[in-house]
Formats: sequence, structure tokens, C-alpha cells
Amino acid sequence: MTYYVKMISFIPGIILFFWTILYIAWANPQEDSSKKLKSPPDQKKSAYKIPKLPEGPLGEVILLGQKLVENTSSDPLSKNYVGNSLNCTSCHLKNGTDPRAATFIGVATAYPAWSPRENRVITLEDRILNCFMRSCNGIRPPLGSRPSVAIASYITWLSEDQKIKQNAKTSQGPFAIPKLKIKSNKIDLSLGKKLYLTKCASCHAKNGSGRNDNPPVWGNQSYNDGAGLANTPKLAAWLKVAMPLDEPTLTEEESLAIAAYVNSNPRPRFVLSDHLPPPDKIGEYNFDPSKSKK
Ligand code: HEC
Ligand code: HEC
Repeated sequence: MTYYVKMISFIPGIILFFWTILYIAWANPQEDSSKKLKSPPDQKKSAYKIPKLPEGPLGEVILLGQKLVENTSSDPLSKNYVGNSLNCTSCHLKNGTDPRAATFIGVATAYPAWSPRENRVITLEDRILNCFMRSCNGIRPPLGSRPSVAIASYITWLSEDQKIKQNAKTSQGPFAIPKLKIKSNKIDLSLGKKLYLTKCASCHAKNGSGRNDNPPVWGNQSYNDGAGLANTPKLAAWLKVAMPLDEPTLTEEESLAIAAYVNSNPRPRFVLSDHLPPPDKIGEYNFDPSKSKK
């Protein structure tokens, strides 16, 4: 009898012991981050959480980077490197935290990565500076300059706890925009124009010049023809997950037709030499134009 009483008095202790083990396994941060990586981010079911801001100067530089991503064309630190009225967040929606529209989440895990365009291995900083020259139609900021380091810090911070997996094929992070499945050889420009007028012109204007906070989608204040979005299948894939803003509901056919129409309009022409800083400001760019594609 006393034997059973002793056993029963142990039971709560045993339960507590197993409960503690289970809790430790569940709360283990490594487990948690591998879970995050397995499911590509999705607006609704993403397990992704914005990391805690580090203390001290690093945290301040990260916040500066976030500010520059949001106000690239107006902030005194970055505006001289931008040649149009776009900000990074115009395409990397919600400062790159939208999990689908060219997200910055996880991007730092892919770099240094192979870049077929530059025909060399590039760093995250290089990749950022390319978007200044092409998408923002501006001048490449010097490597190691404040805007470059601040934006790289911000993007790296958004990759906290994600597993490093350098990209040997192309300069893209793990959650890059998926390509559309439809072929791009049958494009209906007149359908694209009709859809643009009904679904996009209310914000971006009939002549593509944008209005108020809605940025220009063609013309001299938009991205140049060396930018990612100037490639029609890429723009179509981005539109599919990003536009109309807050309710991306286009079908693949509609995205492709609209993308072709948007890109059939005039925009700045990209000539690399016009976008590089003077030689003493360039750092190691290592660009070999004879080997590059564009
Ligand atoms: C006109 C639209 C546009 C603007 C403006 C723009 N980008 Fe991009 N950016 C893109 C697209 C499109 C990609 C390719 C995304 C993909 O392939 O999934 C890209 C790719 C990138 C990548 C690589 C992402 C990856 O998955 O490896 C980085 C980093 C980046 N941009 C940073 C910036 C920064 C910083 C700015 C502002 C200085 C900026 N971009 C402005 C459209 C833009
Ligand atoms: C409700 C207004 C609204 C509608 C409708 C809308 N957009 Fe946008 N679009 C925006 C805003 C705002 C941004 C910039 C995002 C930001 O700054 O947060 C943007 C960004 C863009 C960009 C990238 C930046 C640039 O200017 O090149 C493109 C391209 C674009 N939209 C195309 C379209 C197309 C095509 C449609 C129609 C299918 C569309 N948008 C519908 C508001 C809208």
C-alpha cells in the first residue's frame, strides 16, 4: 500500500520532466528556423516573423537601411544615386517584407552568388548596387558607402535564422518570384492595353506617368531597359503576385498581356558606362563587358 502511495507521489514529477523535454524540443530555435525555410513564405500562412532589432550602432544602421529602401529617391543619403522617381519599396513591396513580391526575406542567404549577367560571383552589396543602376536608373553608389552598407545590413537582418545556401546558378534568394507557366510567344498587346486601362490606369495614369504616390510605369521617370522588370516575362511574374496593389488577382494570361503592353512604351535606355561612378569611386567592380550578356 505505502509502495503505491510513493509511486503516485512521483507521477507529477515524472510528468513535469517529460513536459520540460517536450518544451525544450519545441522551443529550440534551430528547429524553428528549418521549419520556416521549408515552406516558402505565403502572405497568410507564413511562419516568418520580423527579427528583433540588434542593440547599438548595428540596430541604428539597419533602421537607416530600412529608411533608404522606403525613401530612396528623396533621402539626402541616397537620392543622388537615383535617376527616377522610384524607391526600392516601389517593387520590393512593404520594404521587401511582402513575402511574394521580390521579397528581401532570406535573400542574404544566397550570397555571394553566381551572376550570369556579370559573368562572375557577386556579393549582396553588388546586387543592391545593380538595382540602383538599372531599376532606379541611377549611378552605382561606391562599395562600402553608407547607403550601400545600411541597405545590405537591413536586407541581411531580414534573413536572420535562415540557413545559408549560396546560389551557384543565379543571383536570387530562396523565395524569388516564381516564373509563369505560360509561354510568352503569343502576346496580345491590344488586350494588354485594354486591361491596363481598366485595372491599372486609375493609379498609374493612362500615359503611365503615375500620380500621387503611385509611381510611373513607363517614361523617363521609370525603370530603364536594363532593369529586371524591363524583361516582359519577369514583369508578368511580378505583376501576378504584386498588382493591382493589395489585391493581386490577375491570371497568367492577363499578367503577360499587361506586362507586354507596359514594356512596349518608351523608357530610358541602359548604357552601362553612363551608370558607373568615376574610377576612383567604383571600388572593385570587376566587370568584363566583353563577357557579359548586357
Ligand atoms: C523597378 C522595380 C525595382 C526597383 C525600383 C528595385 N528593384 Fe531590386 N529587384 C527588382 C526585381 C524584379 C528583382 C529580381 C527579383 C527576382 O528575380 O525574384 C530585383 C532583385 C533585387 C535583389 C536580389 C534579390 C534576390 O532574390 O537575390 C536585391 C538585393 C535588390 N533587388 C535590391 C534592391 C534595392 C536595394 C533597391 C533600391 C535601391 C531596388 N532593389 C530597387 C526590381 C526592382
Ligand atoms: C490602387 C492603386 C494601384 C493599382 C490599381 C495598381 N498599382 Fe501598380 N503600384 C501602386 C503603388 C502604390 C506602387 C508602389 C508600391 C509602394 O510604393 O508601396 C505600384 C508599383 C507598381 C510597379 C513597380 C514600380 C514602377 O512604377 O514601375 C509596376 C510596374 C506597377 N505598379 C504596375 C501596375 C500594373 C500593370 C497594374 C494593373 C494590373 C497596377 N500596377 C495596378 C499602385 C497601384
